[in-house]
Amino acid sequence: MARLEVTIGSMLLRNPVMTASGTFGYGTEYTDFMDLGRLGGIFVKGTTLEPRQGNDYPRMAETPSGMLNAVGLHNKGVDYFVEQIYPVIKDYDTRMIVNVSGSTVEDYVACTEKLVGLEKIPAIELNISCPNVKEGGMAFGTTCASAAQVTRAVRRVYPGTLIVKLSPNVTDIAEIARSVEAEGADSVSLVNTFLGMAIDAESRRPKLSTVTGGLSGPCIKPIALRMVWQVFHAVNIPVIGMGGICNWEDAIEFILAGATAIQVGTCNFIDPSVSVKIVEGIEAYLQRHNIASVTDLVGAMETA
Ligand SMILES: Cc1cc2nc3c(=O)[nH]c(=O)nc-3n(C[C@H](O)[C@H](O)[C@H](O)COP(=O)(O)O)c2cc1C
Repeated sequence: MARLEVTIGSMLLRNPVMTASGTFGYGTEYTDFMDLGRLGGIFVKGTTLEPRQGNDYPRMAETPSGMLNAVGLHNKGVDYFVEQIYPVIKDYDTRMIVNVSGSTVEDYVACTEKLVGLEKIPAIELNISCPNVKEGGMAFGTTCASAAQVTRAVRRVYPGTLIVKLSPNVTDIAEIARSVEAEGADSVSLVNTFLGMAIDAESRRPKLSTVTGGLSGPCIKPIALRMVWQVFHAVNIPVIGMGGICNWEDAIEFILAGATAIQVGTCNFIDPSVSVKIVEGIEAYLQRHNIASVTDLVGAMETA
């Protein structure tokens, strides 16, 4: 039997396949027709200090090989998560990781502090791609200084595994990765969505209420893969890769590029059980190639 376990920070995963924030809810909708215990982990939807309504509709649009979304972190806030959601999901037989979002450094810290001590939340993922209101609409993930600042502040209050999710909307993602590693991040995950837009030709109106939104799905895969490969060579902490992963071949590509684990996002909307199929596909691949552990494949792309 090939070994599928991987470690991110101090968190052991039974396999490297997880679901991406915002694309799998809290897992609760899936318990009736799939065994969540087959997944390495679930990144729950973006959680903020205060409840958020999200953006006006329409906030989703289909594009060739992908989608645009402008959900805008619609969620009921961290207190609701702790009181209502946590008691339900804490018994799931997989790793539950909370995706923390905020508009200011203080928001991130206060939201994180409410999650410290929740025994069944071994890790948080800091989403640093949302607007930094105090700084005039800039996203934390787009400069080394702001990415480092928020990571440093959260690291001070969070003893668990700290994963920082990087924005791909930057000139050099590797330097942002290095800056959060230097502030104590245990892992980086990438990529979040790419800024994009779509226009309805007949009405001449944008397809999203916000005009621009986040592009995800198979169309972003080659760019995401390139970024994972660059970041893998820039840092010494494990990289979690995502962006258009829809089958086991996609997952193996990300692992060969340097991802220790992967997340499946948009493709959950096409097939909610795709992640389990990816686990099975990786296992069969390892057996077919006589590879003892999936960790042997991490960054094993051959260029010579
Ligand atoms: C509808 C939707 C909602 C999302 N919400 C979040 C979120 O709350 N926090 C976050 O960090 N990423 C969020 N994402 C980004 C995904 O987690 C993932 O990074 C991105 O979609 C790329 O992966 P994919 O191409 O497999 O979907 C969202 C994506 C979609 C499509």
